[in-house]
Amino acid sequence: MKLTSEEQSMLDGEDGKAAQKSMEILATLGEIFEAESMIPVYSVQIAGVSYANLGEAGLEFLSEMAGDGKVRVLTTLNPAGMDRENWKTLGIDEEFAKNQNRVIEAFAKMGIITTCSCTPYLIGNAPHFGQHLAWAESSAVCYANSVIGAKTNREGGPSALAAAITGKTPNYGYHLEKNRHGEVLVNVDVAIKGTDSFGVLGKLIGDKLGELGKKIPYITGIQEASVEELKSFCASVATYGGTALFHMEGITPEYNNYPKPVKTDIEINQDDLDKIRSELIDDNIDIDFVSLGCPHASIREIAKIASLLEGKKVNKEFWITTARPTKKIADEVGYSRIIEEAGAKFASDTCCVVAPIKGRFKGIMVDSAKACYYGRAKNKFKVKIGSIEECIEEAIK
Ligand code: F3S
Repeated sequence: MKLTSEEQSMLDGEDGKAAQKSMEILATLGEIFEAESMIPVYSVQIAGVSYANLGEAGLEFLSEMAGDGKVRVLTTLNPAGMDRENWKTLGIDEEFAKNQNRVIEAFAKMGIITTCSCTPYLIGNAPHFGQHLAWAESSAVCYANSVIGAKTNREGGPSALAAAITGKTPNYGYHLEKNRHGEVLVNVDVAIKGTDSFGVLGKLIGDKLGELGKKIPYITGIQEASVEELKSFCASVATYGGTALFHMEGITPEYNNYPKPVKTDIEINQDDLDKIRSELIDDNIDIDFVSLGCPHASIREIAKIASLLEGKKVNKEFWITTARPTKKIADEVGYSRIIEEAGAKFASDTCCVVAPIKGRFKGIMVDSAKACYYGRAKNKFKVKIGSIEECIEEAIK
């Protein structure tokens, strides 16, 4: 791989140890994926922030990088294992909170913006069409590539941090136009509405892509989709199909840039969707936890939740997971007061998947197909998917 003189001097250690280590990581990746060169990135999103995932080994790596490492581009963080202000109310123990704060401090020392959200594109890490990024967090990667039309591979924690410190990433995969065309034609022959339904659709398409061994669907038949519905779809299709990019005719910006696949590989009707939805509802579920905001809730979603909860009381543990800047807007507008008076809790900076709550609840109700997957696999909960309205009905029952 050809390196510029600036990149070579980082590799030679002239910009310090963290830059050298970072360039070593990126050059190795570039060799493996046969990149010809590095490219500058506009921004970075780092995942693997929860102390529950990192542990002491991860923290040691971070502390080493924080020794003399400073980020060169806008860099934000994925959700942490706890709300950084409200952790006690959410039942997080003191020892975990201490360790989680050590992680955040190491990131902050490197100049990273510690917003802790999986929807960086809603809170200021907002690239435009065509820009190159180095993002981790599968749902945000899928959103950036597909909905924004920016270009990023699915980075891991170390490669994203390395890109932040050098401002570069190897030029391969989704950075190249030749790897961005649709591979599978999917026709959706039914109207889809609501974040839960878009999540169900994402699982259906993701499962089928897995069977076909393909990654990039070209989807026709969707008439309209909101930002919130698309973020739910991205989270789901990335979870179940490993998809980092899709095209949606008439909706996503690149659908017309590449030839459309010629024959329809997947036809989707209401029965298909009903079947997949039933797979996201466990038998004999006893719901004692409701969580909305996977991916992190937008201000529009919080407004809707507030209007549905106004004057009501919840009878179950109920979290709304969102980015702290979004929560601040909700505070100012008065949505937070309505929601908290109803007994629901904000869990900013974190979510029902990355918080250390394994086994704490029996059954979780969510509007997110991704949260269903990890609720079962990671936290050992029974799960039920439903619309935002149905989740709130369950909470106040
Ligand atoms: Fe975000 Fe947590 Fe869902 S990181 S996408 S809210 S699992």
